[in-house]
Amino acid sequence: MILGIETSCDETAAAVAASDATVLAEVVRSQVETHARFGGVVPELAGRRHIESIDLVVQEALAHAGVGVRDLSAVAVTGGPGLIGALLVGVAYGKALAYALRVPLIPVNHLEGHLSAACFVPKRVAPPFVALIASGGHTNLYHVKGWGETELLGRTLDDAAGEAFDKAAKMLGLGYPGGPVIDRLAREGNPERAPFPRPYPTCDDLNFSFSGIKTALLYYLRDREAAGHSWHVPDVAAGFQQAIVEVLVEKTLAAAQRSGVRDVVVTGGVAANSQLRALFETRGKETGVAAHVPPLRYCTDNGAMIAVAGARLFQEGRAATLEFEPRADWAIGG
Ligand code: KG4
Ligand code: ZN
Repeated sequence: MILGIETSCDETAAAVAASDATVLAEVVRSQVETHARFGGVVPELAGRRHIESIDLVVQEALAHAGVGVRDLSAVAVTGGPGLIGALLVGVAYGKALAYALRVPLIPVNHLEGHLSAACFVPKRVAPPFVALIASGGHTNLYHVKGWGETELLGRTLDDAAGEAFDKAAKMLGLGYPGGPVIDRLAREGNPERAPFPRPYPTCDDLNFSFSGIKTALLYYLRDREAAGHSWHVPDVAAGFQQAIVEVLVEKTLAAAQRSGVRDVVVTGGVAANSQLRALFETRGKETGVAAHVPPLRYCTDNGAMIAVAGARLFQEGRAATLEFEPRADWAIGG
């Protein structure tokens, strides 16, 4: 039985999993209300909210699982990458618990945790597969050759995909987080009435760039305003969303083709996007690639992915000493 703790950004989360990746209980406390009025995550506030919530969240997860602390064989905790003040809370809590229980402390890379979403799709996907992690902080493409053997194929050179949604929503006065509201409005809009350039930094590599499309939106709104025209928000949302979604899907499927794999796992908060899910389904079928998108609660930050990744590392004997320090920048394998 292993406890997983996640506090890298604005979710305080904990879960209990067994060594075979079965999740017994999971609790996620979102801080979205705390940060909404600032239009983005405020690191200092995130750390403070984690301090308030961490013990309650862990106790609740243990209670739901019907497990006492003494039943735990290890404590897994997100060690990075993320906001340092937020990571510190989970790591300090995890260290104290591991020390008190005399069980191993297993630091888990947050992105490696996201890759464990492969265990939460109906047909558990085992390596090799290609994974797209698209969230508010990351847009990374990986070739997962084996667990612990991961190659970074591409990443965003500037803004993350979720960040682009959030910034667009801010410009359109739609609040935070931007992804869900743009997704909803886009269903009523016509993307052809507000077309945006597809943000390919270069055609033949697997990196992304989303700052150009953000500027394109800014100019679109500014030019229309200067010309005395208004705009139809659903059309703009649809055009903007389509441009981002197409690039994410096409590059991910190209990565699968180049890596010679037939399975793709899509995770991170942006994986909630309905158009992204639909396009992966249709384009996947056309290209002979099976695209797997886990249930939403396993796409966004959660404790289960940390517990499951931690269980694997525990079996490999990968514990840390209590000297372990969280790392705001921590590349997979680094
Ligand atoms: O993984 P996540 O919960 O947190 C981190 O960033 O780590 O991802 C949050 C991001 C936000 O940028 C949010 O706007 C985006 O995911 N998002 C979406 C949707 N739901 C959430 N983006 C597009 N469409 C959605 N339906
Ligand atoms: Zn995340």
